[in-house]
Amino acid sequence: MFVDLQKKENYAILTLNRENALNALNSQVLSEIREAIRDLIQDSRMRGVIITGKGEKAFCAGADITEMKGLSFDAAEEFARKGHKTMNMIAGSDLISIAAINGYALGGGLELALACDIRIASKNAKFGLPETGLGLIPGFGGTQRLPRIVGRGLALEIILTGEHIDAERALRIGLVNHVVDLSELLPKAEELMNKMLKHKGIEAQKVARWLVHSGAELPLTASLEREVNAFAEMFQKGEPEIGISAFLNKQKPEF
Ligand code: CAA
Repeated sequence: MFVDLQKKENYAILTLNRENALNALNSQVLSEIREAIRDLIQDSRMRGVIITGKGEKAFCAGADITEMKGLSFDAAEEFARKGHKTMNMIAGSDLISIAAINGYALGGGLELALACDIRIASKNAKFGLPETGLGLIPGFGGTQRLPRIVGRGLALEIILTGEHIDAERALRIGLVNHVVDLSELLPKAEELMNKMLKHKGIEAQKVARWLVHSGAELPLTASLEREVNAFAEMFQKGEPEIGISAFLNKQKPEF
């Protein structure tokens, strides 16, 4: 098994466990990630996932380079599709996702982190999309998700130079939300996850998250209209009654 899944009360920690290859993503690892995410989606108690890598050196050093040698067009397309299917399953599920980046996040490893809602890094983390140096392009979503997060100019610099950037620069450009000592990485990710899950409307979070992600693909007028409709629809469900009543009674809401 290349993926460990540890379930807590309402979220799970998914750890890539292929330390001798710096947690690189071969087809087997990608398939095990999908299996783990499917398990969480089907478990109604699970509302979030923290993704991290085993060891102190790498979150994930990218797609498995040995597996890509000599691929035909069809095989390369299939490999890219497996990557996309995996990243889309994480981004498209209702799970709140945090990448806890404990070292190198390169190529497909950075693309995995980009598919998560939030990224937190340890001080030793290094980020990059070095694919062009291998004569490749980022193939697991990097050309599309990176510019949407850091902007087109910075994304192009990162993709075209292939250079590694350190955690402090990643923080400055908004690629990660927090940088902490390696020993604090998982505690920080769990603290943030717990903060998001406690006393918050479950349906409200699902809808807000969906609006943020799906709205990025729409013209602003259409996504704003979608927000108005979604806001009104919330009142057809039970959560506003619980949350507003609790506020007015000076209590913490329990959804
Ligand atoms: N695929 C397969 N194996 C990998 C790997 C990868 N992406 N990255 C590292 N490894 C393996 C190494 O081959 C090595 O294995 P052996 O011990 O059997 O030789 C082991 O992991 C340790 O790596 P290094 O000895 O290279 O460690 P280092 O400290 O000298 O360097 C590193 C660390 C800078 C991360 C370096 O390993 C590296 O540059 N890795 C490749 C990073 C990369 O180019 N990623 C992009 C892949 S392409 C991609 O992801 C395409 C896509 O978008 C779909």
